Amino acid sequence: MTTSAERDRRVLDLHDRLLEIEQRLIPTGLHVFGRPSVGSERADMLRMVSSFDRPEANSRALPDLIAEGLGFGSLASNQRARAISEEELRQREQVAAILTTAMQTFMAGGVDAAATQLKDIASVNPEDSRPTFLLLDRISRELETNVEIEALLRALCGEYIQPGPGADIVQNPAILPTGRNTHAINPYAVPSEVAFAKAEVVAKRLLERYQSEHGRYPHAMALVLWGLDNIKTQGEGVAQALWLLGVRPVRDGLNRVTQVTAIPLAELKRPRVDVVMTVSGIFRDLFSPTVELLDKAVRLVAQLEEPAELNYVRRNVMEQIQSTSCDFDEAAIRVFSNAPGNYGTNVNFMVMDSQWESEETLGDLFVTRKCFAYGRDSRGRQIEGREARVAMDRALARVEATYQNIDTFEIGITDVDHYFEYLGGISKAVEKRARARPAIYLSDTLSRDAQIRTLEETVQLETRAKTLNPKWYEGMLKHGFRGVAEIENHVSNTFGWSATADAVDDWVYTEVAKTFLLDEEMLQRLSNLNPHSAHSLVNRLLEAHGRGYWDVDSNTVARLRDIISDLEDQLEGVA
Ligand code: BEZ
Ligand code: MG
Repeated sequence: MTTSAERDRRVLDLHDRLLEIEQRLIPTGLHVFGRPSVGSERADMLRMVSSFDRPEANSRALPDLIAEGLGFGSLASNQRARAISEEELRQREQVAAILTTAMQTFMAGGVDAAATQLKDIASVNPEDSRPTFLLLDRISRELETNVEIEALLRALCGEYIQPGPGADIVQNPAILPTGRNTHAINPYAVPSEVAFAKAEVVAKRLLERYQSEHGRYPHAMALVLWGLDNIKTQGEGVAQALWLLGVRPVRDGLNRVTQVTAIPLAELKRPRVDVVMTVSGIFRDLFSPTVELLDKAVRLVAQLEEPAELNYVRRNVMEQIQSTSCDFDEAAIRVFSNAPGNYGTNVNFMVMDSQWESEETLGDLFVTRKCFAYGRDSRGRQIEGREARVAMDRALARVEATYQNIDTFEIGITDVDHYFEYLGGISKAVEKRARARPAIYLSDTLSRDAQIRTLEETVQLETRAKTLNPKWYEGMLKHGFRGVAEIENHVSNTFGWSATADAVDDWVYTEVAKTFLLDEEMLQRLSNLNPHSAHSLVNRLLEAHGRGYWDVDSNTVARLRDIISDLEDQLEGVA
């Protein structure tokens, strides 16, 4: 029997999940090159921007200002912290409703009207809210103009293009106006102090999450590090790796991060976790000093005279030296990437082409592509992409959890095939070598309250917030032919998570089939707009069933086969 307290808790939890989906900002359509953003898109974007403090603009998050004005303190922060009571839930809803009203007023009447209204309805001092509305006003105007085509034409004529930072608008509004020459960052500045501070919380939550599910810390983890992400966040991913190892970056006289120092165990208050890092080809090229820093960090930690149960890196390195008689350099390899000049894992291509028999092949391909070691040996000689397959196999065999940081709302794990090729690929490689499927986590460091989710939770959230969300797919379908291709891509990328990590529930495929294919009207729309992608979509669902990822009744399968056959007739011009 369920007690009424339990029932209330479940309802609150359900409410919270719905809120999570509702509040997830999603791009509602593709960016059209050269086209300024339209009203409703702009309003959604500005609302998201308004939910973060911007110390550089002296501006505070509107939900906090409203909550404080109403006397709720920080409790009512409308972002991710789980609701704990009905009272708190009601406060959060009130804050969200007032924010909606204020944003409408801002869009219609501008800075002063919105600031005055917030004073009247939520007792927010206009002195406090004006800097935020002024920032929104600047961003809004920059979103209304677009010089991308002019800039492209100038670039094609070999003329000067103004430089600008690369990120998304919510992360860093200074990326506007677009149409500028994205500049990278100085790798010696990575990780920035802000990134290192933010990463402490994420690493802590990541370890807490694993501990809550497994009763102890993971002995070894595998991390995926990408170049563009670490540019955008000034090295949050790098900083998370350093925190897991329990080291701090050290700056030299020129303010360059060139060294690391161990955080004492008494301060760290937990064991140092062994970390296997797979960096993308782009990361390797852009962040060569950082690759060395990460390698240096592992070597430093492995040499600390600390108890084995508090330093998993040292324990693993020592064990390997003893059991295989290899030297320290060989036992301490932890930073891997492609061979010099090579990029990508090709796992995505193999999945997309359906050219694979056993899932193991996908993990093996990942290792074949990524088993090149980078760093320096004990004599200071640079190792630049030495093939080290055995070392990688051994390092992955110890891994208990895999992880990747997500720092943007623009691209999620089903938008592109790169997440499953990397995080899925490495997880499948671990599964064979460690003889157990690792726990797979992603972070969402975009939310104000950094969240750690399992892969399964993230797939569910993305499916509900995007693939099955009419706001998302109707936004895509406005782009006609390309929109159908995007829907098909999402389903194929979701399938990628079945193939590499068995992380997709049956209901996902069932709902995709119902929404896009078993609904006659929708099927007609897709078939008219883009019969090729509609055909691929049906094929992918049948493949999901054929490979055992989707348990579905035979009538549905028969119906999908009919649809395929009709689409083939249409494509061949028979019908
Ligand atoms: C990177 O930034 O490193 C990256 C971008 C796209 C795919 C894979 C990696
Ligand atoms: Mg299943």
